[in-house]
Amino acid sequence: MPGLVAVGLQFGDEGKGKIVDYLAKDSQMVVRFSGGNNAGHTIVHNNKTYKLHVIPSGILYKDVKCVIGSGTVIDITSLLHEIRSLVSVGIDISNLYISDRAHVILPIHKERDNIQNQKSKIGTTGRGIGPTYTDKVKRTGIRIADLSLPLSELKDLLHSFEKPESFAEGLKKQYEQIKKFIVETQFLINYYIKTGNNVLFEGAQGALLDVDYGTYPFVTSSNSIASFAAMGSGVGPTSIDAVIGITKAYMTRVGNGPFPTYETDKKIEEKIRKAGNEYGATTGRPRDCGWLDLTALRYASEINGISYLAVTKLDVLSKLKQIKISQTYNIEDRETLSFPSTISKFKDITPTYKLLDSWGKDISSCKKERCLPNNAKELLQIIKEAIAYQSINISHIGVGQGRNQIIENINIWKDLNGF
Ligand code: IMP
Ligand code: MG
Repeated sequence: MPGLVAVGLQFGDEGKGKIVDYLAKDSQMVVRFSGGNNAGHTIVHNNKTYKLHVIPSGILYKDVKCVIGSGTVIDITSLLHEIRSLVSVGIDISNLYISDRAHVILPIHKERDNIQNQKSKIGTTGRGIGPTYTDKVKRTGIRIADLSLPLSELKDLLHSFEKPESFAEGLKKQYEQIKKFIVETQFLINYYIKTGNNVLFEGAQGALLDVDYGTYPFVTSSNSIASFAAMGSGVGPTSIDAVIGITKAYMTRVGNGPFPTYETDKKIEEKIRKAGNEYGATTGRPRDCGWLDLTALRYASEINGISYLAVTKLDVLSKLKQIKISQTYNIEDRETLSFPSTISKFKDITPTYKLLDSWGKDISSCKKERCLPNNAKELLQIIKEAIAYQSINISHIGVGQGRNQIIENINIWKDLNGF
């Protein structure tokens, strides 16, 4: 009865969409458990590019049930837009399920997000995520189930917002459009697990944006690490059998906040951005680019309890001359292996780097790790050594955008099912 969680180990945008899409083909259910339409997952499927925000990446497979779990926050306007764009290209969405306990992002949340964004320096996606989670914790939020109440009761629930009348009716209309998807998803997910299906829990953002374990306060407003998969889906921790952590072979960050291995040479940074097409899938913002940070990777692997590691976008490094990999940090002239827990420490970090010449040739048709150029193998070896004490193997290596451009060292579903 395997439950497998897929999570990002960096600042989001690690290529989770592609890995989840790959693993979803042999699963029966994919569950999104946190965040909202701040996420953007790009998937290339039959030469078409899909950008998903809150709908799980499994939706492109006809027979995979896709659940938006209770730990998420939902902007119904944006969800309807996503549904329509999938339907318009012939994607079947009859397998979509929405938790009645998920919180609703209201227009006022987006307004508040944008006002707060001007004052603080976080650089959010402006989708209303933070204010919606704030209302959840303040116990003044609106949940999907509330939309089924008679209009007068819904208006009462909205009393803490300005002019509730003006949007209560709009919400009721939207509810009519999504009500066929709404269920008590925790029962559905538990049933799928207990009846022996492969259930994939799809993370959003990345470990370093987690509200508790990331670079606080430059984080998102939800938990993005693997343990929240249980919480945000309504299953017990005993239903999670394994975790696959996903890292790019380099690193990016969008929005503000510390990024120790940021490449300060603008020309080199631009080369990475161009080679990796590093522009936000949600906001279109150019992502800041830099190098793989093994201190952060070790930390993220540990707090997620990963069992497998996927390294994505290795092909991007083929287009560079030289590659840097940060092995440790220097803080105040002392070498350290630990990831700071206070924001002020980040400004004192000088990463130590190992340099590697790039292999300079196209690897996008490689099907086996042993066929990769020597320096690509060496890079993977450095990563393996960094996390060796956790006995984790690299299960997947991304060598191109396409669905088949992936080297699979371990078939995870077979590994978990024992056949
Ligand atoms: P929020 O999630 O919109 O509140 O934004 C908080 C921070 O998380 C900002 O730096 C965003 O750019 C970042 N962020 C949120 N979602 C994603 C994502 O899916 N990928 C990358 N960065 C994200
Ligand atoms: Mg993304």
